[in-house]
Amino acid sequence: MKHLFDESDWNVYKCDVLNLSVGTPGSDLLEQCCENFKIASVHRMNLEKNKNNAYLFQYGPTPGIEEARNAIATFCTDKYQSEVKSDDMIITSGATQGLHFVLTTLVDLNGVVFIDEVTYMIALDAIKQIDTLQIIPIPLTDEGVDLSRFECILEEKKFKPKNKEFWGIYYSIPVYHNPTGLLFSEAVCEGLVKLARKYDFLICCDDVYNILNYCGNAPPKRLYAYDKNTDPDFRGNVISNCSFSKILGPGLRLGWIETSPRIRTILLKSGVIRSGGCFNNYTSGILTSLFELGLAQTQISCWKEIYNERMVATCAIFQKHLPVGCSIKSPGGGYFIWISLPINTDASDFLQFCKREEKIIFIPASAFSLDGKAKKNCFRISIGFHSTERLIDGASRICSAITRFLKL
Ligand SMILES: Cc1ncc(COP(=O)(O)O)c(C=O)c1O
Repeated sequence: MKHLFDESDWNVYKCDVLNLSVGTPGSDLLEQCCENFKIASVHRMNLEKNKNNAYLFQYGPTPGIEEARNAIATFCTDKYQSEVKSDDMIITSGATQGLHFVLTTLVDLNGVVFIDEVTYMIALDAIKQIDTLQIIPIPLTDEGVDLSRFECILEEKKFKPKNKEFWGIYYSIPVYHNPTGLLFSEAVCEGLVKLARKYDFLICCDDVYNILNYCGNAPPKRLYAYDKNTDPDFRGNVISNCSFSKILGPGLRLGWIETSPRIRTILLKSGVIRSGGCFNNYTSGILTSLFELGLAQTQISCWKEIYNERMVATCAIFQKHLPVGCSIKSPGGGYFIWISLPINTDASDFLQFCKREEKIIFIPASAFSLDGKAKKNCFRISIGFHSTERLIDGASRICSAITRFLKL
């Protein structure tokens, strides 16, 4: 196997099928990493040898080296136009491992995980792996999670945790949601923070698409920024779980958690991070050089521009050619377009049709929910991997296939 998708039906590199399922950058983008990382590696190795006592090859400080956290904090403060402090950060080996670390360290193992009725399917698999946890899906509206429904369930489920800080956790992707592309409204974000404080549960946001905003100057405010430590009822309930996978390459296995002192202190006491000495010390050193040399900033801007072009071009095709009764909501950022077929149509059936007739694959809503039933008429395509030309071709053929499938 050469990569995650090799030897499977999901092999996005195969040319005979147009695979619009996977949320990952393609080779045309990833090949930029070769030269950039070569330069950054030489820069870092010289520094380690001549000035740094080769500490990069020692067990690292648990939250990650200060220079890496400073570089990320400076970059994010500039991009978000909202302060990100290196002292609030812990370097991780990506959002997936970050979520696993959070679940096992902070949440009562007999506790509850609240998820959106459709959510990132592999996070759901990772959550299911801890099979003592109860998983409860909450409906989504056009504004984000349904707060009144959520509060009824919180009232019913809350309990006093035994050995962990939190009895429950809400896992979500409030900015450019996977799979729906949704951006949670300000009112929903404010409401979520109020609920988290009132019922003292944890919120873990996968903030992996935030930097990829295609409208306006700054990305939308992350939920973490709504949990203000100047509020009289502040407790510190939110985690922003971030990643370089979509902006510098998933193979780096590098991300960071930004959170309150209450949560950070507990995470940093974990034997896993203490024995490990930072989750990915070596790569965080190379990343520091990548930022110091301005290479990371240039690569991220370049990728963002390409993704933006892909998103705009693909949405334009759907908006123009989707048959009556179908719809999309153009997301303002991220990777995903969520397409709704007429209400009683099963997107899994359409996938089989599209695979057979057009050799195009995507992910139907059934893959994103706990019981496989929520939003069954919808499916997700990703703009991350393929060129604009291939995406335009794919989107046009999907529209034509829908017309035939629905016998319009
Ligand atoms: C919402 C979400 N979280 C996490 C990940 C994976 O992130 P990482 O590569 O940092 O583990 C993805 C990738 O598809 C994602 O969409």
